[in-house]
Amino acid sequence: MRSPILRSKRLVLRMPQPQDAPALEHYLSAYEVSSYLTEVPHPYPTGSAVDWIERQHKGISGLNLVITLDSRLIGGIGLKPSSQRELGLFAPSIGYWLAPPFWGKGFMQEAARRLLDWYMPLEPTERISAAAYEDNKRSLKVLSGLGFCEVGRGVVYSPVRGIEVPRIEMELTADIYLGQSAAA
Ligand SMILES: CC(C)(COP(=O)(O)OP(=O)(O)OC[C@H]1O[C@@H](n2cnc3c(N)ncnc32)[C@H](O)[C@@H]1OP(=O)(O)O)[C@@H](O)C(=O)NCCC(=O)NCCS
Repeated sequence: MRSPILRSKRLVLRMPQPQDAPALEHYLSAYEVSSYLTEVPHPYPTGSAVDWIERQHKGISGLNLVITLDSRLIGGIGLKPSSQRELGLFAPSIGYWLAPPFWGKGFMQEAARRLLDWYMPLEPTERISAAAYEDNKRSLKVLSGLGFCEVGRGVVYSPVRGIEVPRIEMELTADIYLGQSAAA
């Protein structure tokens, strides 16, 4: 997957760079962010953001972009390849986070729309999956606002909370997403 630079009304989404490491470590160390993420360790290991950034440039773990506002890093968003490709399930999953000072301003809706506007036409038959903990009302609102619909429920171990957490699985089809965009 090529790495784009995506500009929206207020934001720029771009590849993470080595100079982003301190901001990534700072924000991903916040419990209010990482407690909703399944793949981020807590406490966030010092120095691991540098390794993570290097891995992004090797392109082996999907596409992960940082979200910037006035050149300042405020979050991250990415698409991860399906882990069930051998079963013929190719839907990548979307994941994201915002630094708490930037919540409630519509930035994630804006960032996710920009990423999907770029990605969906590249894969016209594709579906995108997502999963949010049941208690993550903010994320569920973002997903339903984008057109994601619930397709299942399950539980997943949260390394940050140290317990199994109920999770809602969601899916967005290109038909629904592109239909909405055309109607907007
Ligand atoms: C999930 C998360 C990104 C949601 O952030 P958020 O700020 O609530 O999401 P948005 O940026 O889309 O903002 C939504 C709210 O901002 C406000 N808003 C929307 N558009 C706006 C605009 N253009 N201007 C100002 N405010 C706006 C609204 O209040 C909107 O809520 P509404 O749906 O009731 O109208 C954030 O809570 C987070 O990072 N959480 C921790 C990590 C996480 O949960 N990641 C997802 C795992 S599944």
